[in-house]
Amino acid sequence: MSDTPRPAEHPAPMEGGGAYNRNSAVQASGLLPAIDLLEQAARAMPVDDGAGIVIADYGSSAGRNSLLPMATAIAALRARVGAQRPISVVHTDLAGNDFSALFRMLESDPQSYTASDPAVFPSAVGRSFYGPVLPGNTVTLGWSSWAVQWLSRIPAPVPDHVQAAFSRDPATRALFAQQADSDWRCFLAERSREMHRGGRPVVLTMASDDEGRFGYEAVLAAIYGGLLAMQGEGLLAAHELARMVIPTVGRTRADFAKPFEQKEGGNFEGLRLAQLEVFSGEDRIWAGYEQSRDARAFGASWAAFSRASVFPTLALGLEAEPGADRVTPFMDRLEEEMAMRLAATPERMRMPLARMVLTRA
Ligand SMILES: C[S@@+](CC[C@H](N)C(=O)[O-])C[C@H]1O[C@@H](n2cnc3c(N)ncnc32)[C@H](O)[C@@H]1O
Repeated sequence: MSDTPRPAEHPAPMEGGGAYNRNSAVQASGLLPAIDLLEQAARAMPVDDGAGIVIADYGSSAGRNSLLPMATAIAALRARVGAQRPISVVHTDLAGNDFSALFRMLESDPQSYTASDPAVFPSAVGRSFYGPVLPGNTVTLGWSSWAVQWLSRIPAPVPDHVQAAFSRDPATRALFAQQADSDWRCFLAERSREMHRGGRPVVLTMASDDEGRFGYEAVLAAIYGGLLAMQGEGLLAAHELARMVIPTVGRTRADFAKPFEQKEGGNFEGLRLAQLEVFSGEDRIWAGYEQSRDARAFGASWAAFSRASVFPTLALGLEAEPGADRVTPFMDRLEEEMAMRLAATPERMRMPLARMVLTRA
């Protein structure tokens, strides 16, 4: 055991066993405004130059939220190339992602884009998108939703929160901003290398609004408050809490545009930023609460959302105990604590999101 906070090496993938698929309705509705951009990109990308048609889905998790975007892109492409031409769909995520859940869902879900199209070939790659994922010059259409806000590493411990955006320490916030900038450039350069000429990656990701606000204030307060309470109850050691960090960032419009604006002609490593918009995502949990006035359901929904997407990363801070599963009780208790806190004063969550289209020059 050590008293020194030790940053985890990597964010953990989403909760497995299909839990992310069941608890990601917030993401499912948040990504809708980017689907028309993907459809337009599928209509505009080159299909007549002899290259195979390859759609890459970067940060797919277990895939349910990819069904609608993939089906939309495939329909737009089918209208151009007919029913026979093979289309590859490559779902990519971290190596520890639950790819079995993804393939089972593709086979069994009635909404699956494979259901009525025998010329679509799904596959998967378990590699970080902050490195090469696919061979150069092969991807014709890219999609990434709710994924690029995850950093490649935790640049520093966060002394007073689990989310750097809410830290009162400017040095910590600056280190996260630097990491966000270098990771964004790395993501862009890797995608540019993979894209076929004229290929288009479409990205939907968490962002910060023009006032620099990350959003999700009550959710993050409930996570951190819940963890402090668990520490007070002796369920968590101080050094374990100290190394629990959610390495996500909300980049601003200026942050997304910076690599392009610093280059003459707006061409960053062969990519151009064709369209960028930061907008406010719809909080569908709040919308449900406005109808039902069920505060418990409100708290439970945000807690389940957090469990599926960020608790596995927080659990990386736990000290392993031989022969004991500390992760499940940790997640169960934190979910319960969060749900209770959020139910006490339901509020609409601010959810800044960015949608953009890039083109390979
Ligand atoms: C919130 S989920 C988004 C899943 C889905 N695209 C959606 O819209 O609901 C974020 C996904 O990004 C993945 N991810 C995070 N960092 C990554 C990286 N460096 N490389 C690949 N995937 C990553 C996570 O493992 C997770 O599955």
